[in-house]
Amino acid sequence: MRRRPSAADLSLRTSGRYGLRRVCRRRLTAYACPSLRLPGAAETYRYLSWKGGVLAQMEIDLSRIAARDAHDLLTSAVVPRPIAWVSSVSADGQVNLAPFSFFSGVTWSPPTLCVSIVNRQDGSRKDTILNIDETGNFVVNMVSEEMGSVMVETSATVPRGVDEAREAGVSLIPSTVVMAPRVRDAGIAFECVLDRIIQVGTGPYGANLVLGRIRVMHVNKELLESESSIDWKRSRLLGRLSGTKYCRLRSVIEISPQ
Ligand SMILES: Cc1cc2nc3c(=O)[nH]c(=O)nc-3n(C[C@H](O)[C@H](O)[C@H](O)COP(=O)(O)O)c2cc1C
Repeated sequence: MRRRPSAADLSLRTSGRYGLRRVCRRRLTAYACPSLRLPGAAETYRYLSWKGGVLAQMEIDLSRIAARDAHDLLTSAVVPRPIAWVSSVSADGQVNLAPFSFFSGVTWSPPTLCVSIVNRQDGSRKDTILNIDETGNFVVNMVSEEMGSVMVETSATVPRGVDEAREAGVSLIPSTVVMAPRVRDAGIAFECVLDRIIQVGTGPYGANLVLGRIRVMHVNKELLESESSIDWKRSRLLGRLSGTKYCRLRSVIEISPQ
């Protein structure tokens, strides 16, 4: 059985040197578990345990750990994420296609989506955000299971102006109201006009949070359950977990209000 934390343990864990708050709640006591520390940034991790020994929780200061570790923790905690396969075009007409899973709806009135396009490690902006900034429009194409591997191909870092869609063999067709083309085989697509770009941080991994006003939504007729609802079984949309892991829509439960 694990020993109770000594005063020395507690002072180590709560020392100002690490900028940690003292944690000593009613039945929860903080103490050190060096063997469980992740490599690289141990002083920013703190393990919390119930008295008596079983590890219950860990507190992590994400702003103080390596960017790679913060990325991995965040992307494996915020799951599953939908994937926006964004087609865009530069001012001189060069087409670009790339996936982004820091993506969500914002509101339906006015109908708005958001996509977070994070700067590269060297601080440079990705082609997609450069294009959206230049031309003020883009298309979010939703990704179904069958498109998974070709979608991943389009995430390769290639020089600006290289058409990833052509390289990966993805067929694009003209959109109805925006300049950017859309993916022909995507069952669902949103033509968007730029609402605004919100800068979140700068330099490496700083984000450009793009809000896009939806002008037209395309839905394949066979995916529709009714005029205002899409059947998740038929849409077979892919979810992003982290790294190379993805998930499928298979097991759905219903939870009714009590
Ligand atoms: C499934 C998936 C999701 C991704 N999500 C994001 C994301 O949310 N934000 C981001 O900046 N990059 C994301 N990426 C990486 C971009 O796709 C990658 O940096 C791509 O090269 C950007 O292309 P671009 O320079 O043509 O815009 C993701 C990659 C994959 C495969």
